Amino acid sequence: MTRSGPSRDVRADAVTDHRIVLVATAAATLAVTIYTSLQGCLLSGCPAVHGGGVGVWATVGAAVVAPVVMLSAVHLLRPERYGYLARCLSVVAIAVGAALTLAAARAVLAAILAPDAVAPTSIGEYVSAAVAAACAVGLGLVQVDVARRIRHAEREQSIAQARAAGLVAELQEEELRLRYELAETIHGSVQGTFVVMEARLRHLALSTAHADAGVAGELHAVADQLQRLREKELRALSGRLYPVDLERGLAPAVRALVVRLPPSVAVTAPDDAVFSAFESRLSHEARVLVVRVIEDALSNALRHGSADHVVISARESGGILLIVVGNNGSAPPATPALSGLARLRRRAQVLGGELVLETLHGGRSRTGARLKLTLPLSAESAGDAAASASATAAPHTPPPAP
Ligand SMILES: Nc1ncnc2c1ncn2[C@@H]1O[C@H](COP(=O)(O)OP(=O)(O)OP(=O)(O)O)[C@@H](O)[C@H]1O
Ligand SMILES: [Mg+2]
Repeated sequence: MTRSGPSRDVRADAVTDHRIVLVATAAATLAVTIYTSLQGCLLSGCPAVHGGGVGVWATVGAAVVAPVVMLSAVHLLRPERYGYLARCLSVVAIAVGAALTLAAARAVLAAILAPDAVAPTSIGEYVSAAVAAACAVGLGLVQVDVARRIRHAEREQSIAQARAAGLVAELQEEELRLRYELAETIHGSVQGTFVVMEARLRHLALSTAHADAGVAGELHAVADQLQRLREKELRALSGRLYPVDLERGLAPAVRALVVRLPPSVAVTAPDDAVFSAFESRLSHEARVLVVRVIEDALSNALRHGSADHVVISARESGGILLIVVGNNGSAPPATPALSGLARLRRRAQVLGGELVLETLHGGRSRTGARLKLTLPLSAESAGDAAASASATAAPHTPPPAP
């Protein structure tokens, strides 16, 4: 499996190279043949016509046979496979062979077609034929070298692009890991420290209450401030860094978003089993994106739509995950100025998906908004492999969702 790809490439490259040599050599030979024929006719009044019409046919026949034999030799020898020295030797051999073939073909054809005519022999003509043949084959080999260099550069470029994409993915994974650790630290240690400080302040306030009620009140006020900071700011900061409960899976993370909503808003969300059916086939980044999209859709439903009913649905179709968050509030404007959704859409597109905000027509002139996220799902085995690879490579990465 691992060897068939590269070896198939090598074979395909060899076939392409050989085709380039043959085509370039044939084109150059044709051009040289036409050029020399025209030149001969124009300058010397068709010297090939010695011996009448039959002599012309011997010359033309030889001019056809020699290139055909030369191209056959190129096809058999495949000089593009060799190094510099072997190439030079094969070019010389093919060129000499072409000149000899030309001479032999001319002699044989003249003997057959006009046995009584005296065929003129010119060494210079055969030497120039050999040089022309060498140039034609040499041109074909130069073309192959150029094609190989272009191919090599293209492959290097695609390897570099794949490497860069891999590095970006690693960076993103590292960023998520750091965010998760920071969120955990804020949620755990920092909040814990705040709780201890509050308790100590309240204890101090109690012990100083009988001596100085003012100081005790001040200490209580500072403790209350710390409590507000811990409950609101720190929790919000932690949630912004990494979706709450996502390390336990998509379903708990979505539940954590839903429970924050006021009781006046009814939310219908898929069962845990629906999420667990596909979440192992989503990358870590894609899972974070799903939560962020649902989070923004819920907040938009309240802020912009004033909705009181939100329906979250998730399903897979043909390897594509479709998450839809619909609400019964007011419809979005025809051309909304996207802000948070634009950022989320860019992230979806980077992952090969799409994010669309639509007007929801609920019948009987009821409207609302619908946010649709599509994301490609990896094959089951690939997801498992990626999960186990990342678990080995980064032991601190949040555990993949169940
Ligand atoms: N559920 C919705 N109901 C009605 N209009 C919506 C809804 N969701 C989005 N919109 C419209 O789309 C616009 C863009 O939404 P988007 O979430 O991108 O930005 P935002 O909510 O205004 O700002 P941000 O998300 O950065 O806080 C909104 O200003 C609003 O006009
Ligand atoms: Mg928004």
